[in-house]
Amino acid sequence: MSEPAQPARLPRHSGHDADEAPDVVPVPDSLLTLDEIREDRTISHLITGADRVMEGLGYTEHGFRHATLVAKIAFNILTRLGFDDRTSLLATIAGYLHDIGNSVARENHGPTGALLAYDALKHRMRMDDLMPVLAAIGNHEEENGQAVGVVSAAVILADKSDVHRSRVRKSGQPDFDIHDRVNYAAEQSFLRVDSSARTVTLELTIDTQISQVMEYFEIFLHRMVMCRRAAERLDCQFKITANGATLL
Ligand SMILES: [Fe+2]
Ligand SMILES: [Fe+2]
Repeated sequence: MSEPAQPARLPRHSGHDADEAPDVVPVPDSLLTLDEIREDRTISHLITGADRVMEGLGYTEHGFRHATLVAKIAFNILTRLGFDDRTSLLATIAGYLHDIGNSVARENHGPTGALLAYDALKHRMRMDDLMPVLAAIGNHEEENGQAVGVVSAAVILADKSDVHRSRVRKSGQPDFDIHDRVNYAAEQSFLRVDSSARTVTLELTIDTQISQVMEYFEIFLHRMVMCRRAAERLDCQFKITANGATLL
């Protein structure tokens, strides 16, 4: 009579904490560059898909232009404030990926995007690098997040400052809603970081024939509160100017 089959033994827990546990799949120590992320086909599909969903819902541009701009601005914010290259590069990655959750649905696109980013990057980045990236993506919208760290703060400031005419998809002004009007009226928007004064200033040039400054506050009030808190997370004060006049 043969011996009954023994159940497979589960490995005992080693007692190591997360920092000591080896990664299951070895990943390179060096961080991905923005160029490497931009060449990733899966990520490109997610960004294209996100922009299509947003177009279908009638929102402004949320594609490669927005992703690249947020990535670069997030990097600049942290480098200008004296953060190290690795932290600044993490903000670049999070900035590029922050809206990929829209490829599934607009609602909760932050947390959804974080899960998609985890799947896309888990074999390409160290887990301790990936964590602040996921947190920044998951917390970038005012409905269900806030600046939870410096990478997160940089992504919020970069994202919310992208208000510009080129994001409007409609061609005729009679069809514009308030979001289109506000974006279309923004001829220039620039986020100025003054490391010695510790200020982050959103400088807007607005065509007031198209949209009054009050409309900015109507739709951006919550975003501006989020930016103020994000700036505080970076030990800075947040300011806004419109056509040279200080609003905040
Ligand atoms: Fe978003
Ligand atoms: Fe965004």
